[in-house]
Amino acid sequence: MNGKKGAFIVLEGIDGTGKSTLSRELADWMREMGREVVLTAEPTKDWLGLAVRRANEEGLDPLTESLLFTADRCEHTKQIVQWLDQGKMVICDRYFGSTVAYQGAALQESMGEEALPWLVLINSPVIRRPHITVLLTSDADLAMKRVGDRGALSKFERSDYLKRVQENYLMLVDRFDWRVVDSNGPLPEVFEQVKRAVQAYV
Ligand SMILES: Nc1ncnc2c1ncn2[C@@H]1O[C@H](COP(=O)(O)OP(=O)(O)O)[C@@H](O)[C@H]1O
Ligand SMILES: [Mg+2]
Repeated sequence: MNGKKGAFIVLEGIDGTGKSTLSRELADWMREMGREVVLTAEPTKDWLGLAVRRANEEGLDPLTESLLFTADRCEHTKQIVQWLDQGKMVICDRYFGSTVAYQGAALQESMGEEALPWLVLINSPVIRRPHITVLLTSDADLAMKRVGDRGALSKFERSDYLKRVQENYLMLVDRFDWRVVDSNGPLPEVFEQVKRAVQAYV
């Protein structure tokens, strides 16, 4: 225990917006400021997280995938709460917003506009509300270029999907009071904006 209060910081955004890079930079910066930091991510590396990856590889029903992601998150949240109780800063690379935005985009085809509210509903008893969530936004084609086109789908389809995912993310901003940071610019500039968004909690 260090007498300092922990804070739960989440980075969200489509693939290639810089979440993993900026999470590491944030963690280094906070450690330099003397904070104890846990850098974590979803899906987790526990067996439930591995089940999520397997479901994804095997192309299971998006409903199954949604429930697995949510189950993984349920156990992860318990760990997060413990770290926060120990006064640690917890930086999480993806959280419930990812399930709502990504599985939402997949489920919209079968469930229509019921998809997003259902995903929010099943996640609500599972999550601990983050102190701050930063949504990184980017042009989908640029973001795809940054990660490299590694998907099985054609580039067009993949970029089209990511655009829908980003639209879903943007629908959550007001409701959950997220900060939006444009990540199209150079990384140092984006990092400055992310630091500004979270600095009140450090
Ligand atoms: N603003 C940026 N400018 C230039 N390159 C970036 C920027 N943001 C991320 N990158 C690069 O894009 C790649 C993907 O970044 P990453 O942090 O893995 O994204 P994510 O975790 O959101 O998928 C990395 O090689 C990273 O260095
Ligand atoms: Mg990443």
